[in-house]
Amino acid sequence: MTAVFKIVPTTQKYDWGKIGLSSKVAQYAVAAKVPGFTLDEGGTDKLLLGGQLQLWMGTHTSGPSRLLGSDVALSEHLALHPELIGEKVVEKFREAGAGQGNLPFLFKVLAIEKALSIQTHPDKKTAEQLHKERPDVYKDANHKPEMALALTPFTAMCGFLPLSQIAIFLITTPEFAALIPPTIASSFVSISSSNISGPAEKAALKDLFAAVMTAEESAFKTQLQKLVQRYEAREVQNAEDGVRDLVLRLHSQFPGDIGVFCAFMLNYVQMGPGDAIFLAAGEPHAYVTGDIIECMATSDNVIRAGLTPKLRDIPNLVSGLTYGAGDARRHMVQPVGWASTAYTKLYDPPIPEFSVLQVLVPPAESEAHPAVDGPSIAIVTGGTGALEWEAGGRLNVAKGDVVFVGAGTALKVVNSGDAELAMYRAFVEAQNRDLCTEVGITVSYWPGLRCAVAPFSLLGVLNPINPGVMWHWKKRSFDFYEQYGTDTVSVVPILSGKPAFYTANLEVIHQVLGGGINSSWVKPRLSAFNEWGTNVLTAEGDIWLRHRRVIQPAFNNSMYALVWEQTVLMYEAMMQGEKWCDQKIVEIPVLQEYTSKLAFLIIAICGFGMKTSWTEEKREKGGELTIAEALRLVTTRSPFSHFPKWVSKLPIKSLRTLQTAHRMLDGYMKAQINERVAIIQKQMNLDEEGDRDVFSLMVRANERNVHSAHDQKSTLTDDELIANVFLLLFAGYETTAHSLAATFALLAAHPEAQEDVHRQIMDVVGCDRDPRVGDYHELDKVLNVFYEASRMFPASFASTRVAAEDVELKVPAAFDSGEHATIVAPKGTSIVIDAVALQYSPRYYSDPTQFNPSRWEGDNKVELVAGFSYGPRNCLGRRFATTEAVAFLTMWLRDWKVEPLLEKGETIEDWRLKVLDARFFLVLAIKDVPIRLTRRTLV
Ligand code: HEM
Repeated sequence: MTAVFKIVPTTQKYDWGKIGLSSKVAQYAVAAKVPGFTLDEGGTDKLLLGGQLQLWMGTHTSGPSRLLGSDVALSEHLALHPELIGEKVVEKFREAGAGQGNLPFLFKVLAIEKALSIQTHPDKKTAEQLHKERPDVYKDANHKPEMALALTPFTAMCGFLPLSQIAIFLITTPEFAALIPPTIASSFVSISSSNISGPAEKAALKDLFAAVMTAEESAFKTQLQKLVQRYEAREVQNAEDGVRDLVLRLHSQFPGDIGVFCAFMLNYVQMGPGDAIFLAAGEPHAYVTGDIIECMATSDNVIRAGLTPKLRDIPNLVSGLTYGAGDARRHMVQPVGWASTAYTKLYDPPIPEFSVLQVLVPPAESEAHPAVDGPSIAIVTGGTGALEWEAGGRLNVAKGDVVFVGAGTALKVVNSGDAELAMYRAFVEAQNRDLCTEVGITVSYWPGLRCAVAPFSLLGVLNPINPGVMWHWKKRSFDFYEQYGTDTVSVVPILSGKPAFYTANLEVIHQVLGGGINSSWVKPRLSAFNEWGTNVLTAEGDIWLRHRRVIQPAFNNSMYALVWEQTVLMYEAMMQGEKWCDQKIVEIPVLQEYTSKLAFLIIAICGFGMKTSWTEEKREKGGELTIAEALRLVTTRSPFSHFPKWVSKLPIKSLRTLQTAHRMLDGYMKAQINERVAIIQKQMNLDEEGDRDVFSLMVRANERNVHSAHDQKSTLTDDELIANVFLLLFAGYETTAHSLAATFALLAAHPEAQEDVHRQIMDVVGCDRDPRVGDYHELDKVLNVFYEASRMFPASFASTRVAAEDVELKVPAAFDSGEHATIVAPKGTSIVIDAVALQYSPRYYSDPTQFNPSRWEGDNKVELVAGFSYGPRNCLGRRFATTEAVAFLTMWLRDWKVEPLLEKGETIEDWRLKVLDARFFLVLAIKDVPIRLTRRTLV
């Protein structure tokens, strides 16, 4: 018994179908000599078909396909040979009759001349109920989610418009507004600017839609007549431009039909060949014109409400809609590459019943399709060729042929003609597509960017036309997300790299980062941070908890007091060391030299417990590295840390020095741990306070746990302690240094904000004393400028999580709908948290491109300070960084006025353009900041 054979589709007559050979249905039917086709030589196209038709391919009882050259129905044949459907599919779709040879999907070709009815399809539960109540109208108990794939230019109405758009029509189009009682219209308008589509918004939309669809016949007919007359006279408001032609077209086809007014409530999409839309249950839609391939769950359940002579079931339509509103893009299905094929694209809507492949094989080429674990039906829509399969099977095919392919059959599609061989193949597999396991499939269904290479793959970064590592920064204006109508998008590379989600949406971010140790989202391998071994940043699950339990206690008030005191001392040491104490004006060409040195010294002293100072002696030329130098070398992560380990063994001088530094520090740290453990044990025995640096506090917490019966499991080995100390150096050094540099640059560019901060410093601290750690909370304006600069230049610009299992994400479907879609992120899917886009999102920050420190006033900062991340794995060093920043800025801004250092002929605007831009330097950093300091007259 052969696994691949031709079948004969049925034709169904509909009064909206195209007539003549311009119809794809007619073309395929004629080419394949579908029996029962009556050709009328005298008709418009010489070949006038016996009616307007659609092709059905499948096992639906209203139009079952047969095997070519026989009277046997496909379903009968499949019932006798269930292996053609495949054991797993039979099992999974048993309820839908797969055991009796029924396929879960129905494949069709439609050629639409006249709009189809305004309709929706019930969900499974409603379908069962409707079928029970009215079996004459709702002929089966199945749901009918469907996908339409355009073969020619294709237009359709689909899904509700954004509420704000409907509200505009209420103003511009009096004929439409007249159908809606004033109370319903005014409560709709008052809620229409809401970005959320909660129950209130949905209720308002439902009231409005119901009011239109149940408007009294004489009233809507009068209004429709007025509207058509106005449009014919070309009296059209700007906002109506896009609907005029549609209204006139619908009215010419269905004069006086209430469905014409749906043009003011539904999206109108115009698509080209290869574009596809998916319509889930409860989404109102109407196909308007064009030829399409359509695939759906096997069902013929349609609830109609307008543009039709057929039965209208308005109560069930009104009650069965989801009332999600938003941009039409949320219905689009984005195709992706399939398996390792060259000429095949996969359209995969998020339902288990079907997926569709588009196969376009050029002349003299062939395409190998791996075996699909379920049955498929393919229709050849152009060209000639052959299908070949195992054991020498071969079937010649040409335009119009419809072929069944049994489960588990690998196929070769060979083009033997001069033209492209085009084929569409619908298939079903038993894998749980509700929780689908193929990464590319579900990700690509969601709207987003289709690119040749992933932005962050090696090729993406090296490609000169790609923004590479600056990708996030270049797209910060938020237009990137806006074009897709949602702030969670898919990025699907065609040639290199894996598909991923990118999000700038807090709701989604909370779902991803909010989980605890059993979270379904884990960090990817972060080899650049693992140089010294697993640590609190890179560990997962229980191991992470063990690390965090030892490290967290070190981040306490006495350590923050140390950070404050050391920062104040370091500022004074810097003034002396740089000999600025007596200067009135200081010019600094690159401010980062100072913020970097400061951040390094503070983390070395307060994190590592090192005794060092601003003017630490340099070693003699050729002499041994000092420990401070070694630390600086390894802390300033070299780009080599991103390369494989063997690269570090290459005979390059700087790499050898780096290795020496590593060795030195390793030995030093091990000795230090032993030394500190001995001291700390003594202190603990005597109940004495010890050193307040993070390293000492960690060793102390570890020792306490080692000796506690209760916490013995929460201890770290010496190597793990060392790994964490180095991690803290990496995590806290460049991030703080660059955020500080950005703060100074923005203050130089905004003198009014600087004066405001200066006033507060004078009020709180004045000139007669050094600032104390207790001033921290009074100096909120200083903290706010640091937060605002960190928002505009987020050092940690993106972080990635990977789904450890198939996991559901509730994602806002569109900016202005508030409607949520559930995306399934299959195991292995990455989601990139786009901190730049989040921090430039107008959804969370008004005027996001403006430097506005006052936005941080008030108590809701925790939620908004995105730069330090969220959830249980948020930044452990946030208070460390802000303490250091507030102390340093307070000292500096009290003593100096900070202004742009201009080059000859340069204006302040030139300076802003040059400096207030980002570059990538291990973290996202501001460009070199040249500033001029003028000593303030002390009052
Ligand atoms: C402006 C300065 C800083 C910024 C913007 C920053 C940002 C961040 C972000 C975004 C994360 C989360 C990373 C992820 O989940 O992928 C993080 C984690 C972390 N940061 Fe910071 N950080 C800063 C300063 C510091 C400092 C000064 C220290 C230590 C002294 C530090 C220690 C850590 C640690 C240990 C983690 C890992 C927490 C965990 O996974 O449990 N950070 N930081």
